[in-house]
Amino acid sequence: MILSDDFIAELKEKNDISEIISQYVDIQRKGRNMMGLCPFHAERTPSFCVYPASGSFYCFGCGAGGDVITFLRLIEHYDYLEAVKSLCERCGMNFSVSDEENELHKKKLLIYEINRESARFYYKCLLSEKGKNARDYLKNRGINSSTITHFGLGYSPNNRFSLVDYLKKRGYNEKDIILSNLAFKSQNMRELDRFYDRLMFPIIDVRGNVIAFGARTLSGKQPKYLNTSDTLVFKKSNNLFALNFAAKSSEKYIILAEGYMDVIALHQAGFTNAVATLGTSLTNSQVKIISRNCSEVMLAYDSDSPGQKASQRAISLLKANGLKVKIISIPHFKDPDEFLRSAGENASIKFEGLIKNSKNDLEYQLSDLKSKCNISTSEGKVKYLTEGAKILANSASEVEREIYSMVMSSEIGVRKSTVLIQVEKYIKQNSYKIKSKEMKNILKLTAAKSDEVNKQKQSNLRAALAEESLIACIINNRGLANTIISKVSSDLFVTEFNRKVFDSIKDIISKGKNPEISSLSCYEFSFKEIGRITKIVCSYDKTMGREECIAEYIKILEDENKKKKFQELSDIPANEIKLYIENLKGT
Ligand code: UTP
Ligand code: MN
Repeated sequence: MILSDDFIAELKEKNDISEIISQYVDIQRKGRNMMGLCPFHAERTPSFCVYPASGSFYCFGCGAGGDVITFLRLIEHYDYLEAVKSLCERCGMNFSVSDEENELHKKKLLIYEINRESARFYYKCLLSEKGKNARDYLKNRGINSSTITHFGLGYSPNNRFSLVDYLKKRGYNEKDIILSNLAFKSQNMRELDRFYDRLMFPIIDVRGNVIAFGARTLSGKQPKYLNTSDTLVFKKSNNLFALNFAAKSSEKYIILAEGYMDVIALHQAGFTNAVATLGTSLTNSQVKIISRNCSEVMLAYDSDSPGQKASQRAISLLKANGLKVKIISIPHFKDPDEFLRSAGENASIKFEGLIKNSKNDLEYQLSDLKSKCNISTSEGKVKYLTEGAKILANSASEVEREIYSMVMSSEIGVRKSTVLIQVEKYIKQNSYKIKSKEMKNILKLTAAKSDEVNKQKQSNLRAALAEESLIACIINNRGLANTIISKVSSDLFVTEFNRKVFDSIKDIISKGKNPEISSLSCYEFSFKEIGRITKIVCSYDKTMGREECIAEYIKILEDENKKKKFQELSDIPANEIKLYIENLKGT
């Protein structure tokens, strides 16, 4: 481990885990600990626990757990060093690591640099003679020059070598340009630009790094939009276009649109809180990012039928993550960009009007349903009533259900109570479904946990629990660690996972270091495994460390080992037993 214990200890001391976590999760004090809704899986009741005393967290629902460093790695998708670095920045500590550990970090920095250099190149090309076509195109689309500069838009020339040659001249090597996904090798092994004759949209993260590009064709060549594939610094499904600007907006909501041009047009009209997904449908991690920045989302998806389908999907995903959702409908135009362009000078006032008229998700779903039922016929009325009741049954608010039942009843000319009876019916069905689903999830989780992390635990429960107690004692009580290590050899461990944990801890201690959870990261444990170790460590209480208890754990392990030996013996053919016993004596 290159970072010293003292360094990590000071870092943790200066970055209180509950303070850091509460920036992402609403946690409430429960006795000595804090509880909240887990940010790593969707849930309705809190099973995410923060233990300030040990500086750790654990989710009883999904098994995620660890210390403050692990938390940042999971929530920000940082690697170990990025997480440490960000904690250092928060508390003003100096940070330096060895070249070896810095390798990956340096590669990432290099990709950022290459991306930034490329963005500059594309921008210059747009303003040059070569970029005339692209400039005209933007002008036609109503994008003014200060918007071009603000977003750093650019043009990739119609030549397969322009960027590669430019970057090479500036001293970047081919491998790194390919690693940045700005070029690839052709069949004759010459590097070719990935983007050419396209309008370039730099994608910038909240820290200001250029992490990728979106690129629109200007020649009609397919695909219409091409994006950087995933690289060391970019994952399409984990990022949003223009979040760098929107995160700074003081609005309590974010406008979510489908396309780059929609977002650019919205920002130009003054809606600087607009973002878009990057050519994928909305993902759970994008929703998590949104919910860290605001509590409400205005959906401004395309008005065509794929756009409306995507809205329905987005509504459930956003709501499932606790966000309030409103839906903007864009009359007579395909998307926000086309609407704003047609509105000319009055664009912002007109769009402001659409925001004011936005519907909440119930209103939206009911009106979408109504447009699909012909309610002048009895058949249409029945369909509207049954499907509409299903929609209302999903609302958690009784007041909302009352109000919209009344609206529906007057629309189709039936009594309000008729609508409400249907709604109640579906609420009952839902609650049965939710309960059985939650039950299934719990069963799946408990089964999966014992399988995934420590596959041998269920069949060796007694031994595994004794092993876990010993591990908890060693990590929590430095005084006990040496005693236990001197008495217990790792052969005594029955389950392989716990043995690996024990060996790693021993290794850390033998180097004179403290066995912290985060220092186990360099022993190739997965996040799930780190979570399990955290759970083991958090289950410690002082009585576990009493001398007679420790003696008992060791005795259990000796017993279980004997049992195993007998088991092995019974598997051995008689003529080999003699040899086996002689072998045992010899050791
Ligand atoms: P649209 O096809 O709706 O295009 O794609 P648009 O945003 O209206 O584009 P303009 O106005 O013609 O320039 C919406 C979004 O889907 C992604 C892009 O992010 C685009 O902004 N997309 C679309 C792709 O990633 N690849 C494609 O080939 C098309
Ligand atoms: Mn468009």
